[in-house]
Amino acid sequence: MLISAPTDYREAARRRLPPFLFHYIDGGAYAEYTMNRNQADLSAVALRQRILKNMAGLDTSISLLGQKFAFPAALAPVGLTGMYARRGEVQAARAAARKGIPFTLSTVSVCPIEEVQSQSPTPIWFQLYVLKDRGFMRHVLERAREAGVTTLVFTVDMPMPGARYRDIHSGMSGPYAAARRLAQAMGHPHWAWHVGVRGKPHDLGNISTYRGHPTGLQDYIGWLGRNYDPSISWKDLEWIRTFWKGPMLIKGILDVEDARDAVRFGADGIVVSNHGGRQLDGVPSSCRALPAIAQAVKGELAILADSGVRSGLDIARMVALGADAVLLGRAYIYALAAGGQNGVSRLLDLMEQELRVAMTLTGARTIDQLTRESLVKALS
Ligand code: FNR
Repeated sequence: MLISAPTDYREAARRRLPPFLFHYIDGGAYAEYTMNRNQADLSAVALRQRILKNMAGLDTSISLLGQKFAFPAALAPVGLTGMYARRGEVQAARAAARKGIPFTLSTVSVCPIEEVQSQSPTPIWFQLYVLKDRGFMRHVLERAREAGVTTLVFTVDMPMPGARYRDIHSGMSGPYAAARRLAQAMGHPHWAWHVGVRGKPHDLGNISTYRGHPTGLQDYIGWLGRNYDPSISWKDLEWIRTFWKGPMLIKGILDVEDARDAVRFGADGIVVSNHGGRQLDGVPSSCRALPAIAQAVKGELAILADSGVRSGLDIARMVALGADAVLLGRAYIYALAAGGQNGVSRLLDLMEQELRVAMTLTGARTIDQLTRESLVKALS
């Protein structure tokens, strides 16, 4: 399939993947209202065109958490990435490093931390959930530190999972799921060979090492389901702070008061996120929540935002609304499923190019100059 725009990768991924995997990525919680709002609201944010501003020497780089990155984006933590492309986490981490942006490894990745970090030329970030098994949390953070991970992304919007009804229809879970998945894999021979056969082992690398035996897709939903911890509170984050000394971002903030609590707690940053509409359906889009949060805490910690970012223009919009950088979720996963490391590299090039056009035509020579002034007020 011919790819000319970042959004083309979704259709390319749909063709490549067995439906249970495509819909696991593509779907959201309940009726998917929030998921749909994320993109609809963001694309409605109108950029303010400015002209004749001499934009020679335009610079997309940013400083974040004491480091310099090529442009204001990082790859978001996404579970089971090694099921969408062969050793998918390694391929994505390499593409991110090549582009000069961070890659975040999910707790529930296929490839373990050590495999990904050892094959990435730059330090990766690691995402952790609060789980009932505190021994696992401690164990996995020690491994992350030893492997050379720099930054912890602590996801707090999953004290229990929001139901994704699409997964039952698609065969990801529900009746006869294993047989349905097998039948779908057989109908997608490219995936079956390159990922299903050559991408093994398919267990959850970080969890298998801890439990001492392979934890596969079947066990994944069960293990995680038993391990979500609805008792999570700020105390748990204080406990983590006692043994994680590096930068820590709190992911899953949508409310100004929670953002202020994150500042009081001493977080290095937050991710304004509704988990891509995969948790509480009915909450506002991230881009609607972002401006008030930015107004309350900008400058006191790093503000990242995700959910609905599909293009370089969307990156410009999120930054103009108050984010220091964005996380890319589905956008990069579609590209990875469709084209592996090269797909992600090309996606990032396309996004950077779009961002450059947005900066040039809004009169922003540096990322700092993308502000509320870069938006048409009536619609922002
Ligand atoms: C996610 N997300 C996620 N977040 C997290 O903290 N840990 C995880 O393991 C996962 N897993 C995961 C799987 C899949 C298939 C998706 C699509 C998303 C959420 C992710 O980090 C990010 O917040 C959203 O993807 C952002 O929304 P968009 O960009 O996908 O719309």
